[in-house]
Amino acid sequence: MTLAERLPGHPFIAYKNGTLHVEAAALPELAREHGTPLFIYSKQWMLEALAAYQRGFEGRDALICYAIKANSALGVLRIFAEAGCGFDIVSGGELARVLAAGADPAKVIFSGVGKTKHEMRQALAAGIACFNVESEAEIDVLNAVALDEGRQAAISVRINPNVDPKTHPYISTGLKGNKFGIAHDRALAIYRHAASLKGLRVVGIDCHIGSQITEAAPYLEALERVLDLVEAIEKAGIALHHLDFGGGLGIDYNGDTPPAADALWRRLLERLDARGFGQRRLVVEPGRSLVGNAGVCVTEVLYTKPGEAKNFCIVDAAMNDLPRPAMYQAFHRIVPVTPRRGEAVSYDVVGPVCESGDWLGRDRALDVKAGDLLAVLSAGAYSMAMASNYNTRGRAAELLVSGDRVTLIRRRESIEDQLRSEQFEG
Ligand code: LLP
Repeated sequence: MTLAERLPGHPFIAYKNGTLHVEAAALPELAREHGTPLFIYSKQWMLEALAAYQRGFEGRDALICYAIKANSALGVLRIFAEAGCGFDIVSGGELARVLAAGADPAKVIFSGVGKTKHEMRQALAAGIACFNVESEAEIDVLNAVALDEGRQAAISVRINPNVDPKTHPYISTGLKGNKFGIAHDRALAIYRHAASLKGLRVVGIDCHIGSQITEAAPYLEALERVLDLVEAIEKAGIALHHLDFGGGLGIDYNGDTPPAADALWRRLLERLDARGFGQRRLVVEPGRSLVGNAGVCVTEVLYTKPGEAKNFCIVDAAMNDLPRPAMYQAFHRIVPVTPRRGEAVSYDVVGPVCESGDWLGRDRALDVKAGDLLAVLSAGAYSMAMASNYNTRGRAAELLVSGDRVTLIRRRESIEDQLRSEQFEG
């Protein structure tokens, strides 16, 4: 297999003349100018990923709400805002971010199991489209907050359809044992209760079954269950204006073959049409599938270290920059930015953080020397967004590339940035 074949299949992150490029930008130059570790995103790739959803919903009343938890950089949010997307947020901080990026609050939905009263007030004041509520207790609190503010909160109840999304246990959310959503058999009673509250306006139904889902079947299964409920709820006289099917569509990390967004929605729309819901307003909350493969993290090899049992390739990116391998044993392809022609050796690619869990890739065949650059692929989602300051490491810089235009969308975090919010006793 050639190196090019090992890259996710798209033209925006590719080798040209033996050097890895993001669109027209050569990565060694970017690394020289901005240092490493460095996140680099392809704008065209994001737009193309979005286009697959737009094609899937052509002729339908649909709102694509980008789940910003996947990558909440303002420069990324602006792309989706300009493309007409709505946003799925899960905190007051995310609300502030989407508003700062120019989002239309009427296209913002607020998910999450633990919204605070303060966050509810913030979102009501902003005039968001809908709260996706997740428990009876939350319904009552939101009602009280809305009445107190002299407003009405539009709500959708998140249903837990008890469907196995066949993904990592930490990111499956639609099973009975998960903290998310409201059990299917409680749903009707809860809708009745919500509809009786003056501070609330029931507008929809919602489900999200997990993340990095690579098959259509769990979606189809969840869809049928949600539609069964919609029928029962509407029979009880409660109209549902929109149906929200969450996010979760997976990407190719390592030869994974998730359905394309348009192909998936063709199948789901067939079922929606068959059951008479095809013209209903549809909402989706994709995160990873819009940004995941659009980004790479460039890191420099600091040292190679032969070990007794393993060889280590020690790089300047770590679990604080790319937490997915440490947290979920997730696989990210790691490729040389400028491949050498010598013999590859098997390495564990690890960072400088003082934990054995700080690895980015295991048993990777690489021909590398100190000073070489490596690119960690599929780093556009849940990487920088989950980065921390562990080991007092500043968060990396982020670049957005569009053709040959390169924009620094987040400067590297300095030590002053980190120390600024702290103080001594007394
Ligand atoms: N909607 C809700 C209610 C969610 O909880 C999530 C993700 C999404 C939408 C977007 O899902 P996506 O399309 O990105 O799969 N940190 C983990 C993933 C956590 C996903 C959490 N919820 C990872 O790195 O794999």
